[in-house]
Amino acid sequence: MSIIKHDFEKMNVTKIKNAKNTKKLTMITAYDALFAKLFEEIADMILVGDSLNMSFAGKPDTLSATLDQMIYHTNAVCTGAPKAFTILDMPFGTYINKDEALTNAVKVYQETNAAAIKIEGGEDRAHIIEHLTKNSIAVMGHIGLMPQYVRSEGGYKVRGKTQDDTEQLIRDAIAVEKAGAFSIVIEGVMSDAAQKITQAVNIPTIGIGAGNVTDGQVLVWSDMLGFFENFKPKFVRHYMNGAKDVKEAVQQYRNDVQETTFPSKNEEY
Ligand code: KIV
Repeated sequence: MSIIKHDFEKMNVTKIKNAKNTKKLTMITAYDALFAKLFEEIADMILVGDSLNMSFAGKPDTLSATLDQMIYHTNAVCTGAPKAFTILDMPFGTYINKDEALTNAVKVYQETNAAAIKIEGGEDRAHIIEHLTKNSIAVMGHIGLMPQYVRSEGGYKVRGKTQDDTEQLIRDAIAVEKAGAFSIVIEGVMSDAAQKITQAVNIPTIGIGAGNVTDGQVLVWSDMLGFFENFKPKFVRHYMNGAKDVKEAVQQYRNDVQETTFPSKNEEY
């Protein structure tokens, strides 16, 4: 497949908000400069997700990611992809109250070029989002299945299966919008519920495991490129067989070394 070179448009909060009902938004995670550069002029937004704690650091969940680690990876992403609209995912425990949230968000703005931060939570966290947005921090919300709640909820549970839960999610989305967020991630939500949530707010919803009814989609890069082999969630599409291709390439390298066909005369000084 050839790469269709579309006119790259550097995004900002206003353009992202205006994309609602106009253009579907594409967001992808990145944790390093190399991959961020590859995604820079294709995706609308790059998320330095705390999912890096799982796919990059190999931990069982996202909870042990620290703010300094997120800042380190965000700096790598912003260096590799300076034109991207990059969002830093605030890790667990860094926004437990509005004052700590603001102190930590200011640290992010002072130490990185992140355009925005993302925090998980609905009605329960709206007062924190409001405090941040009133102090000039651009915030993306995150509702539905929230990985930072995995231990307190006893697992990852798809949301929006009942009318009551769908109504709660709609209240969450409206509260996050009213608090000043410019966009909301909707994760692990039944697609009927995701559609109702998307219709209930005026800011773009970015879905992951929420059907094609949201205003955009986000995927974790290592999932969509097939590098993560342990399991494949239903909502992930593999656009590449990364793990297989890498293993085959390294095997080929090993064979070439053993057979002394690498390096060749052309590859030596
Ligand atoms: O951490 C992450 O990568 C995320 C996305 C799954 C939305 O929060």
